[in-house]
Amino acid sequence: MIYFDNAATSWPKPPGVAEAMTRFLAEIGANPGRAAHRRAIESGRVLYEAREAVCELFNAPDPLRVVFGLNVTDALNLALRGLLRPGDHVITSSMEHNSVMRPLRALESGGVEVTVVRCSPEGLLDPADVEAAVRPHTKMVVLNHASNVVGTLLPVGEVGALCRARGLLLLVDAAQTGGAYPIDVQADQIDLLAFTGHKSLGGPMGTGGLIVGERVNEKEIEPLRRGGTGSRSEYEQQPDFLPDLCESGTPNVVGLAGLEAGVRWVLKQGVEAVRAHEVALTQRLIDGLRAIPGLTVYGTLDAERQTATVSFNIAGMEPSEAGLRLDDEYGIMCRVGLHCAPAAHRTIGTFPDGTVRFGLGVFNTMDEVEMALDAVAELAEGAR
Ligand SMILES: Cc1ncc(COP(=O)(O)O)c(C=O)c1O
Repeated sequence: MIYFDNAATSWPKPPGVAEAMTRFLAEIGANPGRAAHRRAIESGRVLYEAREAVCELFNAPDPLRVVFGLNVTDALNLALRGLLRPGDHVITSSMEHNSVMRPLRALESGGVEVTVVRCSPEGLLDPADVEAAVRPHTKMVVLNHASNVVGTLLPVGEVGALCRARGLLLLVDAAQTGGAYPIDVQADQIDLLAFTGHKSLGGPMGTGGLIVGERVNEKEIEPLRRGGTGSRSEYEQQPDFLPDLCESGTPNVVGLAGLEAGVRWVLKQGVEAVRAHEVALTQRLIDGLRAIPGLTVYGTLDAERQTATVSFNIAGMEPSEAGLRLDDEYGIMCRVGLHCAPAAHRTIGTFPDGTVRFGLGVFNTMDEVEMALDAVAELAEGAR
């Protein structure tokens, strides 16, 4: 069995993740910040340590400016719906996931102006095109750090510098890169970093968050929901400070205990080491797929310019059939279709059928890549 669906969610999880979650449930279990007893304090400590781990990984200065939520979709909705107002202009790319596109389209119908900068068919974004799209009322640029369809990395550092020079906010969707590619919110001048816990950070589903940089005035953020925070309980108004402003209701501390263990595991390996392993696997996969007659491989075809996600199509076979047969006949689990990113598929020319996507992860091996290449070669031969 070969798990090549890490771009959707990573599996297996690093050692220590399940144990941290079990320990929380069995030995702590209390509501953080809601009481003064020892277990509530311990629970609050687990929550705070998860914030610290995330800050260490992304070089963010203030754990209290990490807002936890369900996933990156939650974080992106908070940043977009929380900060953009009618009359504002926002710039994005044509490689975005629907977790950016759908909130933006909804905001657009409410009076926010949206410009989608076109990327190349390889998924590359030219920062000059972003610069050319800036208007006097532009407030924000939102980009994924890497495409979930072809893995192509977008130049967030260059766009970050541009945003600083123009007084704009940069929001980055790091769903595909967090834990797999170095991210430094200060060096890359990222004002808002949205991350998801269940991919390369090694955590469980139901975890993610938004790092809110110092250039964002929290007083301007409209939270997605309001309610109990355990703080300022004498007031019926929502607290106006982070993270409480945006974290109402009991948090997923069991999940965040797992997220912290996943992030600590990544930190122990070193993101550079994770990246080097994935680059080696990815380049072999790309080269091997390109050598198979009848295959089209999308993206830059250069592992250094992308994550470990590779999309391809087999001539004469629908992606859906290829996916089913890879699973049934070869035990290879991958994802086919549009990957919640129709704009990206339009950009690379694969809309509406989509592609077969192999999402490799840190626990995959070169042997698995070779086995998968043999399997795809057999399928392609049969389709010819
Ligand atoms: C680039 C990108 N953005 C957003 C998401 C949404 O992630 P989640 O479902 O964890 O919110 C994904 C996940 O597939 C993604 O790859």
